[in-house]
Amino acid sequence: CGIFGYVTTRAVCAGTVVDALRKLEYRGYDSWGVGIGINGHISVVKRAGRIPATTPDLPASSIAFGHTRWATHGGVTDVNAHPHLDCTGQLAVIHNGIIENFRKLRCELEADGHRFRSDTDSEVFAHLVEQILAASEAQDPETVVRAVQAAFERIEGLNAFIVLHYPTQQLIAVKSISPLVIGIGSTGTYVASDAVALVGLAEQVHYLGDDEVAAIRADGLHLYDRSRRAAREPRWQALALKSADTSLDGFPHYLIKEIHEQPRVLERIIREHPAQARELAELISRSYGTFLVGCGTAGYAALAGSYLFSRIARRHVNSVVASEFKYQEHFLTERSLVIALSQSGETVDVIEAVLAAKRRGARVAALVNVTGSTLDRLADFTLPLLAGPEQSVLSTKAYTAKLALLLLTAHILNGSEHVGLDLLWRAVDGMVRALTPDFQDRVKAVADRLADHQHCFVIGRGLSYPTALEAALKIKEVSYLHAEGFPGGELKHGVIALVEPGVPCFVFSPLDETRADILSGAMELQSRGGWIIGVSPEDEAVFDVHLPVAEVGDASPLVNVIPAQLLGYYLAVRKGLDPDKPRNLAKSVTVK
Ligand code: G6P
Repeated sequence: CGIFGYVTTRAVCAGTVVDALRKLEYRGYDSWGVGIGINGHISVVKRAGRIPATTPDLPASSIAFGHTRWATHGGVTDVNAHPHLDCTGQLAVIHNGIIENFRKLRCELEADGHRFRSDTDSEVFAHLVEQILAASEAQDPETVVRAVQAAFERIEGLNAFIVLHYPTQQLIAVKSISPLVIGIGSTGTYVASDAVALVGLAEQVHYLGDDEVAAIRADGLHLYDRSRRAAREPRWQALALKSADTSLDGFPHYLIKEIHEQPRVLERIIREHPAQARELAELISRSYGTFLVGCGTAGYAALAGSYLFSRIARRHVNSVVASEFKYQEHFLTERSLVIALSQSGETVDVIEAVLAAKRRGARVAALVNVTGSTLDRLADFTLPLLAGPEQSVLSTKAYTAKLALLLLTAHILNGSEHVGLDLLWRAVDGMVRALTPDFQDRVKAVADRLADHQHCFVIGRGLSYPTALEAALKIKEVSYLHAEGFPGGELKHGVIALVEPGVPCFVFSPLDETRADILSGAMELQSRGGWIIGVSPEDEAVFDVHLPVAEVGDASPLVNVIPAQLLGYYLAVRKGLDPDKPRNLAKSVTVK
């Protein structure tokens, strides 16, 4: 979820909050809300649904905050949107994370007479602070800070909270892992879950530590040590970020724009990254056990990485879905290396995997697109993806950037850097060919035929297996057509039972050692009536439709994914769906 708040010296329009929330929508967009301190109370406006494109007419105030939600506990309703008020209406809370012990706390608070309005875990925090405050004698600003601190000690999980306390005119921020950044500018003091929301408002920022509590008042930031309750000096640093380039460059949607940016991103990697890839190769060669971790699309890039290191560098590099990593971390030692892959650098499952690795003394490297993100700051070594801002919820250019870096690193480990660079240049050409109007028309024609289907299947073997999984994800997440990817060899072990006449089946068939076997798999599908779409440099009798891609050797995953990205896009457009913000998703999932 996205968080933003301000305390200014002169009242400003609370629409400022809504404008900032738009920059945080990548953290969730199912509901939004604003709390404004005004006329003796906190006025709350909150709604299920997207943040409105035109800023609503909100009153001016010198203290306000807001939230954009990705629902975990409690349905997507106006009531469950943040902020949440306590019983007095003088205190409100916004939250990112999950209060893991919220049921127990809620029962206790209800038994003590607190009346809850929502089904969220977040509301517990408002009542908890209220209860602690009621027990204290004076309500000066410091007492409220201590009450927030005491409430935070009682909750479990990775969380970030902002409390707006009207009587003392302050915002109090506290967190564990989930990031919060405080910014100071000429007009006031701001807090957000990502510095991107502070661009244009703040010149200096302080990243709040887990051992700190911040009170933001009209006279600026007051920082406290969480355990010792003593004042602390902020570590101010200049806000280096510039306003992200969020123009559509003439494209109708970010997804198609970002698909088209891939050849340029790849060129940038080829020109700017070999030195850093050499450093990563060095870290891998010194490690005893390397693990690639990531979620969603980044998880598939990790899987592709394990194939690339095996075939190119003859090196066993494990890949583990980040959310499963903590159940497999027992063999990590100080000599292990964990390479975390993430576009945003904020995915909480990736952060947890990294923390688990650090607890066991392992080294952490990151392939991350967003500089200054939590992952970037936690890692011992960062290899930036150089993909530029990715706005569409679907990850495209960050995926191929990760693949390019892993392929190059594998070749460096093998002592064949120039071969890796040549392959990447061929992949640039291959991508350009897959983005020509003619090729896109072929994909559009497939999308037209697919639009009325309920299911489709995608198969690949070897290096094309992760591509099959990623292709299925690209299709289903944006078009809601059920697509299932699996290794070609597994076909006959169950899934083929679902193949009926006319069912679309995608077959990735590069000119590598998988070709003969994957083509027999395609025939098995066709014998059951499957409609076969072959993604391959060469046509085959078994293909009902051929999508001709360039032959680029081991760089095939970078090129072959493009038809699937395009297909997802054209299917969504044809069905009248928003290709940039599919239902129920978030660009970055910052909760477990
Ligand atoms: C979400 C997004 C996916 C993305 C995944 C990992 O689920 O919807 O597109 O692949 O998170 O995100 P990351 O920022 O860590 O790469």
